[in-house]
Amino acid sequence: MAQTMTTRVTSYTLNTGMKAPALGFGTFQKPNAQEATVSMALQKVQVGKEIQRSGISQKDIFLYTKLWCNDYHPDDVESVLDNSLRDLDTIYINLLMIHYPCTFKQAMEKLTGTGKVSGIGVSNFSKGEIETLLKESSTVIDQIEVDPYLQHKSFAEWLQAKVIHGVQFSPLGNMNDFYRQTGWSKDIVQMRRVMGQLILKDIGHKYGKSPVQVVLVWGINHRRSVIPKSVVDWQIEKSLAADLELQAEDMAQVATLDAKACFNDPSLDYKWQLYRDLQGG
Ligand SMILES: NC(=O)c1ccc[n+]([C@@H]2O[C@H](COP(=O)([O-])OP(=O)(O)OC[C@H]3O[C@@H](n4cnc5c(N)ncnc54)[C@H](OP(=O)(O)O)[C@@H]3O)[C@@H](O)[C@H]2O)c1
Repeated sequence: MAQTMTTRVTSYTLNTGMKAPALGFGTFQKPNAQEATVSMALQKVQVGKEIQRSGISQKDIFLYTKLWCNDYHPDDVESVLDNSLRDLDTIYINLLMIHYPCTFKQAMEKLTGTGKVSGIGVSNFSKGEIETLLKESSTVIDQIEVDPYLQHKSFAEWLQAKVIHGVQFSPLGNMNDFYRQTGWSKDIVQMRRVMGQLILKDIGHKYGKSPVQVVLVWGINHRRSVIPKSVVDWQIEKSLAADLELQAEDMAQVATLDAKACFNDPSLDYKWQLYRDLQGG
């Protein structure tokens, strides 16, 4: 979900012709805050009915959701989508994603003919998994963890060459305490948070922006979308004000922060090796 902002890049045209915003807002961990977040993002309108009441055309809103891991039986996909539409109080969404690599994307693709969803995307797919997917199918986006500490440089270039739009989840790296609590990244999670990172602070100082804003702009300047978790009004306002273009020298400075540090890797818990061929490269 996003509203237009005044940065140089505000949206991208995807490989289906559909437009996606450069900045979106996630509501991870905060089910009760979703309404408030959407209200904030859309000047106090709420999902579904509120969108209609606001007079903002739904074509100007990019709304998406994912199938969670226990909804992966092909026979369940459409009813799970129907539940999401009901929860969101809307008749269609722009994008439906599969949360983790899995083989039944065809079941999702059938839904594009129903008018309930415009595009199908994937999340957490590595290069090899997307290559497998592309043998029989396609995808609009890959939503994956990317931040200055985990830049996935070659993978990001590869995605662009394949005209698959990159969406950065957890664009602020280890800012969310969730990662300190899960143990999914216990060896690296204590790394300095981006808001305290000296290079980012210096760059921010140059433009009159915060390190967090620099991080969001860095992603957008790479022609990706960024979706910070945003349930706090002042944070949403700050994120929307991340509207500048970094000079090449500053982009090069941020590039030096790459540590291939993945903070959200539940492979051990899930007993399935995620991001097999990525390793941050
Ligand atoms: N596809 C996937 O597998 C997957 C996995 C994880 C997350 N996601 C998506 O990515 C979104 C973001 O992920 P995330 O929460 O892990 O990481 P994040 O957005 O990078 O970081 C969130 C943390 O940053 C803080 N924050 C947000 N905006 C800020 C601002 N403008 N200034 C200062 N601090 C700010 C938040 O504060 P508060 O704690 O005060 O809110 C929170 O602590 C989620 O909402 C979800 O939609 C997707």
